Amino acid sequence: MKPAFQVRRQSEVYIGAATDLLPGLLAEKRVVVVTDATIDRLYHRMLAPYDVVLIGTGESCKTLQTVETIYRRFIELGVNRKTFVLAIGGGIVTDVAGYAASTYMRGLDFGFVSTTLLGQVDASVGGKNGVNVDGYKNMAGTFTQPRFVVCDPSMLATLPVREFRAGLAEVVKAAVIADADLFGRLEKSTLEMLRSDVDLLSDAISASIRVKADIVERDEREADERRKLNLGHTLAHAIEKCSSRMNHGEAVAVGTAMIAEVAVKTGTLRSAERDRIVGLLRKLGFDLVPPVEVKRLLKEVGKDKKSEDGILRIVLPVGIGDCEVRPMPVGEFAALVLATAEPVKEGKR
Ligand code: GLY
Repeated sequence: MKPAFQVRRQSEVYIGAATDLLPGLLAEKRVVVVTDATIDRLYHRMLAPYDVVLIGTGESCKTLQTVETIYRRFIELGVNRKTFVLAIGGGIVTDVAGYAASTYMRGLDFGFVSTTLLGQVDASVGGKNGVNVDGYKNMAGTFTQPRFVVCDPSMLATLPVREFRAGLAEVVKAAVIADADLFGRLEKSTLEMLRSDVDLLSDAISASIRVKADIVERDEREADERRKLNLGHTLAHAIEKCSSRMNHGEAVAVGTAMIAEVAVKTGTLRSAERDRIVGLLRKLGFDLVPPVEVKRLLKEVGKDKKSEDGILRIVLPVGIGDCEVRPMPVGEFAALVLATAEPVKEGKR
């Protein structure tokens, strides 16, 4: 099978059955697998030929301690520069394992089998690997491209509906920033249709990866255009920091709706387009009310470690399928968000 996408001529992205693809991709390699207990249980037979390093589940495992545990197991298993690291799992497994692989012995080759929708459309593609530090998201990491990413839509059948929906937030994000046609197709679909129709789902996965691959092609290290992939993420990261009630995708949906409101306020987005964005997110079943007071979120945004001298890079939609990155002092951003927060309280969102 040919790859669906090439990222920076270093990384091949395949959309297809992992069991068909892996033998060819791993031929003649000594492989060590990094995964979690859920994947180990579901795909035990697929993992049988390999040494397996298990890590915990959940965002709380995305730490340097977990990376150190992986290093220790690698040492025990005699992993060396010629060993290939295969991470199988969702975004947390691929982020952590990618970081461990890209730093152990100054870097081993690695590849991913991405088993969640969020991982397939965003986290596993593009070469960002990393861990959180003291709850601050992705504070330590590398830009290192995996040799390959396998996105197997059939593996999504076992995903709980909440996890599936969370992945759709990143699909909507991709559509809002760069693919108006995808947005239109999503408007004609429902969560149930996307879950049950493998062609529809594969199309959404493929279109989302295309958006990301195109952007990463032009700006791997987030000097400029890659920031667009952070639509809604400044607020989403603050939500995740303040509350454990929402997972990443759910927080991105809230952040996207809030930023659409801000974009209307700044005059970059027409209110009819904001309504389409909010309407699509609602139709997919997202709760768009922030789980904590907006003032508390903004306090967290103020502590954003990625702001440069107090300047945030805020991604504003300027239409469906188009966006711009605007440098904005933290105070100005906070004032805009507060000015748009009233409808939330009044239950209008
Ligand atoms: N998830 C955003 C990025 O990969 O740049």
